[in-house]
Amino acid sequence: MYLGLDLGTSALKALLIDDNQQIVGSASADLEVSRPASGWSEQQPADWIKACEKAILGLKSEHAKALSAVRGIGLSGQMHGATLIDKAEEPLRPCILWNDTRAHQEAATMDADPRFRDVSGNIVFPGFTAPKVAWVKENEPAIFEKLDRVLLPKDYLRLWLTGECVSEMSDAAGTSWLDVGGRCWSSALLESTGLTEASMPRLVEGSEISGEVRDSLATTWGMGSKVVVAGGAGDNAAAAAGLGAIAEGSAFASLGTSGVLFAANGGYRPNAASAVHTFCHALPGTWHQMGVILSATDALNWFATIVGADAGTLTAELGDRLRAPSNTTFLPYLSGERTPHNDAGIRGVFAGLDRMDERAAMTQAILEGVAFALRDSLEALGAAGTKLDRIMAVGGGSKSPYWLSALATTLGLPVDLPHDGDFGAAFGAARLGLIAATSADPKTICTPPAVERTFEPERSLESAYAEAYRRYRALYPAVSGAMS
Ligand code: XUL
Repeated sequence: MYLGLDLGTSALKALLIDDNQQIVGSASADLEVSRPASGWSEQQPADWIKACEKAILGLKSEHAKALSAVRGIGLSGQMHGATLIDKAEEPLRPCILWNDTRAHQEAATMDADPRFRDVSGNIVFPGFTAPKVAWVKENEPAIFEKLDRVLLPKDYLRLWLTGECVSEMSDAAGTSWLDVGGRCWSSALLESTGLTEASMPRLVEGSEISGEVRDSLATTWGMGSKVVVAGGAGDNAAAAAGLGAIAEGSAFASLGTSGVLFAANGGYRPNAASAVHTFCHALPGTWHQMGVILSATDALNWFATIVGADAGTLTAELGDRLRAPSNTTFLPYLSGERTPHNDAGIRGVFAGLDRMDERAAMTQAILEGVAFALRDSLEALGAAGTKLDRIMAVGGGSKSPYWLSALATTLGLPVDLPHDGDFGAAFGAARLGLIAATSADPKTICTPPAVERTFEPERSLESAYAEAYRRYRALYPAVSGAMS
C-alpha cells in the first residue's frame, strides 16, 4: 500500500493505493484561508498538521488494515508558500501563500536583477517564495532575525512526519532561489535575499527517498517501521505524475483554486518573458512549463458565496449543452494575475452586464473568463516553443461538463476527462511514494489514466468564442491603467 498526501489550499487529501495502483480509499480535511488585507493570503502551519492527522485518522477508521500495510508515502502540495521556522522548528508567523501578492514591489526589484531570470528561468512573481521573505525582512525585521529555515508548505508537513528538512526539485523551482537548469540551490540568488544554503532544506528528486515516518506517528496510525517518504512534488507536477504527463508534449489543464495549463518537457526550455513558468518536473532529468492563473474555481466559489448557492448548483443551471458565449465578459483577476500579465494590482471585472441578466449569465461569464485566461496561457506556452494537440482536465472544476466544453472550444483542443480526475495530485504523490519505496521504473508507473469522456471543440461556436476571446483580450489594457 502507498499513501499520497496532497496539501491543497482548500483541503488536505489523503489517498491510499495498492501495489497495482488501484484506489483503496481516501479522506480529506478542509482548510481555511485567512485574508487579513487585500492581496494577502495566509494559513497557519499548525492547521496543516491538524488536517493531516484528521485525514489519516479518517482513513484509519475505514481502512485500518490497508493503512497498516503502507510502505511508502508521497507528498504533494500548494507551491511557493513561505513557511518561516526558527531554530526550534517552530513557525515564526502564518505561512504567506502562493496567491498572496503583498510582495509585488520586492518581486519587481528582484526581477530587475537579470541574474534571477537567467538562473531561475522565471519571472520573479510576487507569489513566489523569495520576494515574500524579502517582504518579511523589510516589514517584520524581528521575525527575519529569528529565521532559521524557509520551508515550502508540504515540506513543513514532511518535517513533522519525518523530522527531516528536505525539499525536492519541482517545488524548489518555484522559490526563485533554485538554479532550475542545474537542479541545485543558487547561492548567488540566496545571498541577494540575505540568506545562504544553510537556510534551505536539502534537495532530493521527487521519486527519491527523503526520510522515514517518525516512530510515534507510525505507531498512532498502526503502520510498521521504515515507511519511506518520497520527495514528492509541487501540486502541479504531482498531478502530472498522476496523469502520466511526464513525456514531451503531454499536457493537462487543472481547474483548482488556481488554474494551470501544464506541459511536460524533456529538456529545460525557459522563456521567462512570456510569463510561462518553467520548473523541474518530479522525475530526474525532466522539466515542465505551465501558465498559471490565480483564480479558477476560486472565482466560481467567490461568486457562489455571494449569491448563496453552491458551485455545483450554479454550473447545473447552465445545462449540459454549450451556449453561444455570454455578452458579459468576466476577467478572473480577483487576486491579481500571473500568466500572461504578471500584474499584482489588477482586479476582477464584469463588463457588459445587461438589465435582463440573471445569475446564470454571470456564472457563464465566469466559466468563460477562466477558459479565456487559460487560452492566454496556451498562447504563452506557444511562445515558449510548446505546441499542444490535446489536454487532460483535472481539479474540482472538471466536474462541470459545461466548463470542459467551453474550455475545449476556447482552446480549440480536445479535452479528455480522466477517471478519478479529482485525485490528480494525491494520486501522483502516492505514485512517487511507490517509486521511492520499490525503485520501480517511473515510466512503467506514471502511465496515463483511462479516459471517461472526451470534450471536442464545438465547431459551430468556434468563431463566436474567438470573437468573445478578442473582447476579453481588449479589456485588460482598457482597465489596467484605471486600477494601477
Ligand atoms: C503554481 C501555483 C498554484 C499553486 C496552487 O505556480 O502557484 O498552482 O500550486 O496550489
